[in-house]
Amino acid sequence: MSKIKTIFTILFSLLTINVGCFYLPEFKPNYKEVLKLSLLFYESQRSGKLPSNNRIKWRGDSALEDKGVNGEDLTGGYYDAVIDLYRCVMMICLVIFVKFSFTMAFTTTILSWGVIEYKDAYEEVGQYSQVLDAIKWSTDYFIKCHASPKELYGQVGDFSTDHAFWGRPEEMNMTRPAYKIDVDHPGSDLAGEASALFSSASVVFRDVNKSYSTKLLKHAIELYDFANTYRGLYQEVIPGAKQYYESTSYGDELTWAALWLFKATQDSKYSKDAEKYYREFNISQEIPNSFFYNKKVVGLQILLAESIGSDEYSDAVGQFCDNSADNQLRTPKGLLYIDKFGTLSHAANIAFACLRVADLPQMPSEKYIDFAKEQIDYILGAKGRSFVVGYGYNFPKRPYHSAR
Ligand SMILES: *[C@@H]1O[C@H](CO)[C@@H](O)[C@H](O)[C@H]1NC(C)=O
Ligand SMILES: *[C@@H]1O[C@H](CO)[C@@H](O)[C@H](O)[C@H]1NC(C)=O
Ligand SMILES: *[C@@H]1O[C@H](CO)[C@@H](O)[C@H](O)[C@H]1NC(C)=O
Repeated sequence: MSKIKTIFTILFSLLTINVGCFYLPEFKPNYKEVLKLSLLFYESQRSGKLPSNNRIKWRGDSALEDKGVNGEDLTGGYYDAVIDLYRCVMMICLVIFVKFSFTMAFTTTILSWGVIEYKDAYEEVGQYSQVLDAIKWSTDYFIKCHASPKELYGQVGDFSTDHAFWGRPEEMNMTRPAYKIDVDHPGSDLAGEASALFSSASVVFRDVNKSYSTKLLKHAIELYDFANTYRGLYQEVIPGAKQYYESTSYGDELTWAALWLFKATQDSKYSKDAEKYYREFNISQEIPNSFFYNKKVVGLQILLAESIGSDEYSDAVGQFCDNSADNQLRTPKGLLYIDKFGTLSHAANIAFACLRVADLPQMPSEKYIDFAKEQIDYILGAKGRSFVVGYGYNFPKRPYHSAR
């Protein structure tokens, strides 16, 4: 009898364990909270002298000696990563304190794009001034990087010295070399991306601070001329960058820069330039399945559809979203799978692009909005666990940040 009882007890506890495994709290996304947390992430990545309103208590001033080859002040901006998770092998992780202009500029352009299109949402959730700060932290740095009209710093810091150092950015004491592009060593992709950043941010700041916005636009125009006149790939000038953030063509950045200048100025010279580059570099022949710093095609097509309005562009972006939603490889629970690195960021970028496409005329908007929401909700925990630190059910509890 007692044996049977024991067996039942064991069975019963196995059952409860199983039920426990299948139990998931109801998923109710709180996008407001997520937006707030995502801006805190940018803040934790800040380099340079932190302002008194810094909200990350465990961060302090760092890399105050960052300088250009002629002693220019290059403090500020964002660290690429304060840990390089991709290269954690056998519990040994490499830390990266490099500041990369190419990816920093792309990130800030996309952030600005979001603010331009969804300013109301930022205001409604009380994060408008915070997102302006996040953008300005980058633009202030890029103003320093743009040392003269035809000179732009593309990287500060070095991987090999970073890898030899194990500590907080606040305690770094290694030399941090700076690398730049100029007329003899051009990089149209880097200069074009920085121009796009300045144009998009100048639109963001137009209603906030007119003189700052005008200043940003001046940098945008100078960098556009530099990118266009002196052609080249930045990774051939700054070879270290290739290993991490390669750029395989500059046709997309020239088009991107022209389109953002058109958005900032409404001067049709720039939309004509954009169409010219789009043809010159055969961009329509590229069929993208992703949207990131080295593959901007769909972003170009969205801006072209918005500014020029031809069917060619709206057909292309419709196809992009249909393909992403219907045919793209996914994980078993439905996350888009583009790459093993940055899987979530690829999915989020595509969701953003398709939200923009949903706003174009004659699009199956509901399908694209549902698709974007599905991808974002996956990241927030709809399929079992949240991937956003500090948010939702079963989020990652021990994220590593070398500043902590
Ligand atoms: C740099 O920091 C490390 C560890 O904090 C220390 O051992 C080393 O002596 C420092 N080097 C210099 C040049 O200050
Ligand atoms: C506008 O931006 C400039 C540059 O950052 C700053 O010096 C100035 O105080 C700002 N003006 C206002 C009204 O915020
Ligand atoms: C674009 O395509 C044309 C025709 O196929 C080719 O001649 C040209 O070299 C291509 N341009 C670029 C930048 O790839």
